[in-house]
This record gives sequence, structure tokens and C-alpha cells, in this order.
Amino acid sequence: MFRVLQEALTNVARHAEAKRVRVGLREEAGRVLLEISDDGKGIMPDQVGGAKSLGLLGMKERAAAVGGSLEIAGAPGKGTRVVMKVMSEG
Ligand SMILES: Nc1ncnc2c1ncn2[C@@H]1O[C@H](COP(=O)(O)OP(=O)(O)O)[C@@H](O)[C@H]1O
Ligand SMILES: [Mg+2]
Repeated sequence: MFRVLQEALTNVARHAEAKRVRVGLREEAGRVLLEISDDGKGIMPDQVGGAKSLGLLGMKERAAAVGGSLEIAGAPGKGTRVVMKVMSEG
């Protein structure tokens, strides 16, 4: 989760042109949710699934490696949101 946060924040700094970024971590219904949202230019749909997007691919692989999931969504001019979900222990 830390590495996903690190890559998501690096992307905000590099690409988003955002004024604000919000990081949330919470436990809900037996899952841990990590959410990183910015108010920047918004990731394009073709970039979300793009073959060259190794950073995004790495985040998805890290989420999958712990049995979790990763969603990335953007809206032009309205920012980008990355959500990682993983089952909590116990
Ligand atoms: N928070 C963001 N806001 C806007 N665009 C983004 C954001 N995160 C990623 N992107 C876009 O998605 C692309 C792929 O991201 P990534 O796989 O991490 O590659 P890299 O950061 O090496 O360019 C970036 O090049 C950028 O165009
Ligand atoms: Mg990146």
C-alpha cells in the first residue's frame, strides 16, 4: 500500500498540475481502502489502460499481489482518483 501511495503521489507531482491532493486510509466492511485524489487535469482513459503505463501497471500488480484491487479514474479538468482495496487481516 505504501508503494502504491508513493507512485500515486509521484504521478500527481509529475503529471497532474493539481492544487490539492487528498489521501485517505480507512477500514470498511473488512477491507482497507487507500484513496488518492487530486484536482488536476485528470488522467485520460487511454492512459489508464495504456501499454506504456508501467507505473500504473506496477500499482495494479502490487494490489493484485496482496489479493486486492486497484481502480484509476480521471475526468478532464476534474482530477484523478486512485483507489486500492485489500481485505484486512483477522
Ligand atoms: N494524477 C495524474 N494526473 C494526470 N495524469 C496522470 C496522473 N497519473 C498518471 N497520469 C498519466 O498517466 C500516464 C501513465 O502513468 P505512469 O504509468 O505512472 O507513467 P509515468 O509516471 O512513468 O509517466 C502518465 O504519463 C500521465 O500522462
Ligand atoms: Mg508514474
